[in-house]
Amino acid sequence: MKILEVRDLAISFEDKIAVDKINFNLSAGEIVGLVGESGCGKSLTAFSILGINPPGSNLSGEIIYNGEDLLKMDRDSRRKIRGNKISLIPQDPMSALNPVFTVGEQISEILEVHKDMKRKEALSTSIKVLESVNIPNAEERINDYPHQFSGGMRQRVLIAMGLVAEPDILIADEPTTALDVTIQLQILEILRDLREKGKAILLITHDLAVVSEICDRVYVMYLGRIVESASTKEIFSNPKHPYTIGLLNSLPDESKSSLIPISGQPPSINSIPNGCSFHIRCPKVFDRCKTEKPELYSVKDNGQHLSRCFLEQIEN
Ligand SMILES: Nc1ncnc2c1ncn2[C@@H]1O[C@H](COP(=O)(O)OP(=O)(O)OP(=O)(O)O)[C@@H](O)[C@H]1O
Ligand SMILES: [Mg+2]
Repeated sequence: MKILEVRDLAISFEDKIAVDKINFNLSAGEIVGLVGESGCGKSLTAFSILGINPPGSNLSGEIIYNGEDLLKMDRDSRRKIRGNKISLIPQDPMSALNPVFTVGEQISEILEVHKDMKRKEALSTSIKVLESVNIPNAEERINDYPHQFSGGMRQRVLIAMGLVAEPDILIADEPTTALDVTIQLQILEILRDLREKGKAILLITHDLAVVSEICDRVYVMYLGRIVESASTKEIFSNPKHPYTIGLLNSLPDESKSSLIPISGQPPSINSIPNGCSFHIRCPKVFDRCKTEKPELYSVKDNGQHLSRCFLEQIEN
């Protein structure tokens, strides 16, 4: 059952298009990956679902949650959902935690606001949630301030904050980046547990290795557009878009003698190329790609695998 459906979501700053009419959905009990290089619009997409858009951004499209369009909801109704029904583990753990409040106060506040709990009950629930993300001595640590935790622990505190209200949807923005392997594995384990409990998880990452580890389905983004989507198995065994193929070729793998990075850097949103936005880096580019924007074509299984590339059209 679809719990979230994003339709033609576009995010722009004046005349710059950061997210260009993307469509995706999430169902209960699945982990869906949103993958792409830095600057492709992953975090802005996450913010728009939470309703915390940066100043100066313009949004259009629909974000349907439980049959209602979040983008049309008033601020109060939106606030009741944020952190409660839909929560975000933000990309930057330090700036997301308030340095002047203890970790216990920050977690408890969510429960006091959304679940009407009194401080005492909220604190004991906070201890339980910290224990569930493997923070040792949680009973004492709730009295510590964010700077007293290591980077990996702060990341887990943020995960605890994302989980404490038991949301239907958890959006995790690069939750394992910059963490050592042991902690990464623990975090992936926590996400797997949540899937078991029927939560819907959107996992934002630039790391395809993490995707292959736990995602059920994947959306690949390039410069604000979704360029390919399929099940994880299909993306890894039968990638279609040259960008996805490039990402996979640049993934370290024991069977490869050398890595082949994608040539060049993604252009900025100030200078999105005409036609297919990937054409300037594409090893398979031909004339049509330079002038005409490809659609997301179904390449297999009636829309279960989509690719925004003319080549698939020609071959099929
Ligand atoms: N407040 C803002 N004002 C203007 N442009 C912005 C703003 N926030 C983001 N952008 C631009 O929108 C694009 C998408 O940004 P976003 O943060 O969503 O990327 P991302 O995919 O999360 O990247 P990363 O992997 O580095 O976190 C980028 O080109 C960025 O420069
Ligand atoms: Mg980001």
